[in-house]
Amino acid sequence: MKLKFFLPALLHLALFQLISGSPKMSMNPSSDDPIPTPWPDRFHALLYMNLSKGNLQMSDLWYDWPRGRNVNIFQKQLGVVLYDIEWDNGTSFYYTTGERDGESCQVMEFGVGIPRPDFMLDGARYLGTELTDGGFLCHVWGKAEFIWYYEDVVSKRPVRWDFYDGISSHVMTFEEGAILNDSVTQAPSYCFNQDLELKARRCIDDFCTVNPLTGNSDRALLVSVLDQ
Ligand SMILES: *[C@@H]1O[C@H](CO)[C@@H](O)[C@H](O)[C@H]1NC(C)=O
Ligand SMILES: *[C@@H]1O[C@H](CO)[C@@H](O)[C@H](O)[C@H]1NC(C)=O
Ligand SMILES: *[C@@H]1O[C@H](CO)[C@@H](O)[C@H](O)[C@H]1NC(C)=O
Repeated sequence: MKLKFFLPALLHLALFQLISGSPKMSMNPSSDDPIPTPWPDRFHALLYMNLSKGNLQMSDLWYDWPRGRNVNIFQKQLGVVLYDIEWDNGTSFYYTTGERDGESCQVMEFGVGIPRPDFMLDGARYLGTELTDGGFLCHVWGKAEFIWYYEDVVSKRPVRWDFYDGISSHVMTFEEGAILNDSVTQAPSYCFNQDLELKARRCIDDFCTVNPLTGNSDRALLVSVLDQ
């Protein structure tokens, strides 16, 4: 089981807070610069993700701001299906299910909520247009040297976003208003185990790992940027 240290992400969070608290250092931003389109309150997207070590996964992403819930169902390449159920109260459940993948679960307390629909509006620096993913002309914004966000010039849909550590997500489908059936987001009974929960908390206090099941700190990355 790969472990990745939480410390860099926390450090980055601290750095980000510093950056966002100080005067903006953008290069003569023009009021004519396009601004990122906020996410719809609810959407379903399929993401093709290239992780920092070059390993790949699909993500079935269900963002639901009114429900305070962000769900990623990761299909690791030729590997497990990993559920990542994030709640706006700061709790995330990471688990696998079934005979093939085994029953494992890690519960994390992040102390911050899910990304706001307008998370890119605040502090984003417009970088111009770029042709990406083989033919999508996009507006590109960077935020805090942490995330680069690509939005289709015409359709205004997100096409791609990259994190500073090399994780790159490519939007394959984008379905506004779609709602995930609540029954899918109910964490299995083996998540509700006192030992696991305590272990997860202790791990975070010790700057341990964010997501021991994947070796990625995906939510930490997101929350660092999105919820200061
Ligand atoms: C994934 O990203 C790495 C690093 O940017 C790159 O070298 C590799 O070609 C990418 N793989 C795929 C399948 O996109
Ligand atoms: C947050 O909400 C989820 C889903 O309702 C719940 O399982 C979890 O215990 C809550 N966490 C806290 C810290 O209240
Ligand atoms: C949600 O899933 C449950 C269990 O599979 C099913 O009984 C219910 O009809 C579904 N609800 C909707 C709105 O699809």
